[in-house]
Amino acid sequence: MTLPYKLLIGLGVIVLSATAVAAQTQTEEITRGRALYLDHCAVCHGRNGDGHGPMAPVLTTPPANLRLLSERYGNPLPTDQIASFIDGRADVRGHGPRDMPVWGGSVWQVEPGRGQSGQVTAAIASLVAYLQSIQQSTHRVAAASVPQ
Ligand code: HEC
Repeated sequence: MTLPYKLLIGLGVIVLSATAVAAQTQTEEITRGRALYLDHCAVCHGRNGDGHGPMAPVLTTPPANLRLLSERYGNPLPTDQIASFIDGRADVRGHGPRDMPVWGGSVWQVEPGRGQSGQVTAAIASLVAYLQSIQQSTHRVAAASVPQ
């Protein structure tokens, strides 16, 4: 085998393992996001994100079905826009001071002197990654029902 081939194969292996590492990191992020979701969001939005959490009936504004976010905002989800609903930069009636606290920085803040700066954003990013992972793909359903 000539050297260029070996080089090419070597490069291929590097690219493949980088992809595997990226996929692994993404899975971990979704797992973290899911744990946060179950702790902080499921009470209203439901354990599976469909909007039917135990607290939903007592709220004046019904919690959104978070599985259908991509129908409203596009797929992939616009990360910053979705993050702004969660961290309180954008106005979400149901998250505002009227019904409930805003899930802003203070909720995600790590204790002073502990953790790393940027951790707040990382928590929200993993929540958005989790939300992305639970989007119902209506397009896929539609495509599957089209006769071949
Ligand atoms: C106390 C109940 C409650 C909790 C807890 C809660 N939400 Fe909500 N959320 C709502 C309600 C109610 C709405 C709909 C408000 C509206 O339509 O104005 C909403 C809307 C949203 C939206 C916007 C949906 C859209 O279609 O525009 C997102 C995104 C969202 N919530 C994410 C979250 C995440 C992530 C968490 C956890 C960190 C969370 N929510 C926790 C009640 C809650």
